[in-house]
Amino acid sequence: MTNGSTRSGNEAAAVRAEELRKLINYHNERYFVLDSPEITDAEYDALVRELRQIEADFPELAIPESPTQTVGAAPLALFGEVRHRVPMMSLDDAFSEEELWAWAERIVRRLPDVDLDTLAFSCEPKVDGLAMSLTYVDGRLERGATRGNGVVGEDVTANVATVRTVPRQLDPRAGPFPHEIEVRGEIYMPRADFEALNERQRAAGAKVFANPRNSAAGSLRQKDPRVTASRPLAFWAYQLGSIDGRQPEELSDGIEDDPAAKLWRPQRHSDALRRLAAAGFPVSPDIRTVVGVKAAVQRCRELAAMRHDLPYEIDGVVVKVDDLALHTRLGATSRAPRWAVAFKFPPEELPTRLLDIMVSIGRTGRATPFAKLEPVFVGGSTVSLATLHNEDQVRAKDVRPGDLVIVRKAGDVIPEVVGPVLTGPGVPAHRSPPWRFPKTCPSCGGPLVRLEGESDTYCTNVDCPAQRVQRIVHFASRGGLDIEGLGEQRVIQLVEAGLIADPADLYHLDPDRLVELEGFGQLSVSNLLGAIEASKQRPLSRLLVALGIRHVGPSAARALALAFGSLDDIVGASVEQLASVEGIGHVIAESIRAFFDNPANRSVIERLVASGLNTREPGGRAGLDEAGPPKTLQGRSVVVTGTLRGFTREEAEAAIIARGGKAPGTVSARTFAVVVGEDPGTAKVSKAESLGIPMIPGDRFSELLDTGELPVT
Ligand code: IVH
Repeated sequence: MTNGSTRSGNEAAAVRAEELRKLINYHNERYFVLDSPEITDAEYDALVRELRQIEADFPELAIPESPTQTVGAAPLALFGEVRHRVPMMSLDDAFSEEELWAWAERIVRRLPDVDLDTLAFSCEPKVDGLAMSLTYVDGRLERGATRGNGVVGEDVTANVATVRTVPRQLDPRAGPFPHEIEVRGEIYMPRADFEALNERQRAAGAKVFANPRNSAAGSLRQKDPRVTASRPLAFWAYQLGSIDGRQPEELSDGIEDDPAAKLWRPQRHSDALRRLAAAGFPVSPDIRTVVGVKAAVQRCRELAAMRHDLPYEIDGVVVKVDDLALHTRLGATSRAPRWAVAFKFPPEELPTRLLDIMVSIGRTGRATPFAKLEPVFVGGSTVSLATLHNEDQVRAKDVRPGDLVIVRKAGDVIPEVVGPVLTGPGVPAHRSPPWRFPKTCPSCGGPLVRLEGESDTYCTNVDCPAQRVQRIVHFASRGGLDIEGLGEQRVIQLVEAGLIADPADLYHLDPDRLVELEGFGQLSVSNLLGAIEASKQRPLSRLLVALGIRHVGPSAARALALAFGSLDDIVGASVEQLASVEGIGHVIAESIRAFFDNPANRSVIERLVASGLNTREPGGRAGLDEAGPPKTLQGRSVVVTGTLRGFTREEAEAAIIARGGKAPGTVSARTFAVVVGEDPGTAKVSKAESLGIPMIPGDRFSELLDTGELPVT
C-alpha cells in the first residue's frame, strides 16, 4: 500500500481502493472470461472484503463502477451478446454461521413482521459451475446465455443445446406454458466425469483443467459446439428467472383467466422448483426447504459434512427465502438480492506427507522453496507440489521433510501448505531437524545469496543453466513471443545439447543439428523453425514482455511500446522520460534503465535485432509518424475474426490502422478482406461468403500487412 506519511488516511484509502478495484477486475476477467483464475477463491474474497471495508469507511469512494457494485466481467467477444430481460444478479457471501445469522437479522430489520423461527428457507447446494439462463419460447429451447456482467451475457445457445440434461422441449404434461419462460441454473461437470476428462486430456497432451468449475466453463464456452458436445456437462435448475420478461414474483394479479400464467406464477420458490422439475429440468435432490434460521444453519452444516460424498463439487450453500412475496418486499442491492445469501464453506484442508523440500530457480535467479507432497486429492484436484514462497515462510511454518502437513486448496487453484500436524495418528515419532535453505544452487552449484532486508534468495550466476532455460521459456511463452511448440522440455533439450544459451540463439538454429535430437523429425524441425520465424513479427510490446525486464508485464510493455513506438527510443530513454509514461512508475523506469544498461542484455538485444525481429509497435507513436510502417492498406477495410497467433484482437486492429487501413467489427460489401483466425465468428464468415469477400487464413495476416495484397492460397 502506498501510504505515504504526507498523505491523509483518506487519500491512502483512495489509492488502495483504486488498486483493489484494478486487481479485482483483473481477477474477475481471469475467472469469468478466461476461465483461468490465478488466485484462490479465498484470496479473491479477501480482496473484495478489503475493498468493501474501505468503501464502508469512506462512502465517497464507493463509486458505481466498483466491482463490489457489479457482477462478473464483460462477456468475451467470441460470442454474440444477449441482453438479459431480467438482470442476472450475484449473491452476497456469508463466510461463517455468524454472518448467516446477521443476514437473517437484516431481513427482520427490513420486515419487522417476519419471525425468523417460522420463516421458510430453501437450502441449496451451491454448485460450482457456470450460471446459465435458458429461454423457452412456446415450450421450446430458444436461447442459452451466460451471466456475463449480469446485464449482457454471451449467446451460447448452440453449445448449451448439446448438454444432455438441458431439455430441448418442455414436458407437455407440465403445461400449458406461458409464451416465454426463462429458467436459470448451473452448468457443471460431475466430479467423476471431470476426473475422467482430465485423464483423457492428459493422455492426449491437451490442457488439463484445474477443477470441475473451470472445466465446465471452458467446455461450454467453445466456439465449436461439437467440442462442448464431447464434454460431460450437466445442468441443475435453481431459479425460475422470468415469465414473459418479468420476474415471477412481480406478475400482477388478475391472471386467473390465463391458465398458463396462473400455473407459472408460484407463491413459493420451492413451488417454482417443483414446476421446473415437472417440466423436465433436473433439480438437485439435495435441495431442502426448512423452517427457521436454526434449521437453515443446520442444513448448511450437513451439506458441509457431505460435500465430498456428493457427485458434484460445491463450494457452499445458497440459502433463499422461500416466500416469493417477500422477495418483492426485500428487493435487491445493485448486485445481489436481499432474499438470498451464499454461505461459503471454509477452504478445504487435508493432511498429507511432506516428502521433501526442494528449491527451484526462476528466470531472475530467484530460488523458490517448494514442497514435494505425497499426492492428495484436495479442492477438486490432486496436489503433489506446493510452493513455500521463501525462506521465512518455511521457517514460520516450521515444516520439515517427513512431517505430516495440512494442505489447503481453497476450493480452487493454488495449493498451499498450512503447517505441520504435531500430534495424533500419522505423526512421525521423530522429526527431522529444521529445514535449512541450501547454500548452493541446485542447477549450477553457485552460491545462493539472500540480501539484507530482502525475503528472497537468489542464484546470482547469470550463466546458471536453470536461469537460462527459464529466460528462454519465458521468451517463447504465450505472453512473450509466443513460439508454438517451444515449451520447457524442448528448451531444456536444446540448452543441454548446446544449441542455445539465450533467446537470440533461437534465430540461428541449424536444422541439421536439430533433426539429430531425440523426438525431432523433419516435420517437427520445420514446424519449430516456422514458429520461430513467425515470432519475428510480434509487436514491440510482446518483445518487451519476452525480454523479462523486472516489473514489466503486459500492460507496462504496451504503455511503453505505444508511447515510444520503437525499441530504439525506449533503449535511448532516460529514467525521467520512461517514468513520464502513464502507468510507468519510478521503480519500473529504473528497472528498465538498469536492464538496458547491462552489457549482456544489450548484446542479446543487438543480436535479436540483427536477426530481423520487429521492434515497432503498431499504432505506437512512431507508427503514426511518417517513419511508421508503409501504408500498405491505405483506405482498405480489413475485418478480423477469431484468434490470430501472435496478435491480440487490439494488436491486430492497431496493425491494420497503422498501415492506413480500417478495422471495422462487421463485414460489409466494402470490406477488402476478412482474416479468419482460430474459432472464427460464424456470422462474419457466412456474411463474407454471401458477399463474396475474400477470406484469408490467420497465419497469412502478416503477409497481408506487409504487402497489402491478398496472399495467394
Ligand atoms: S441463485 C440472484 N442458487 O452461485 C440469485 N445460485 O454467487 C442468483 N449458484 O451466479 C443465484 N448454485 O452461478 C443460486 N442453488 C443456487 C446456486 C447458485 C450455484 C451460483 C450461481 C450464481 C452464483 C452466485
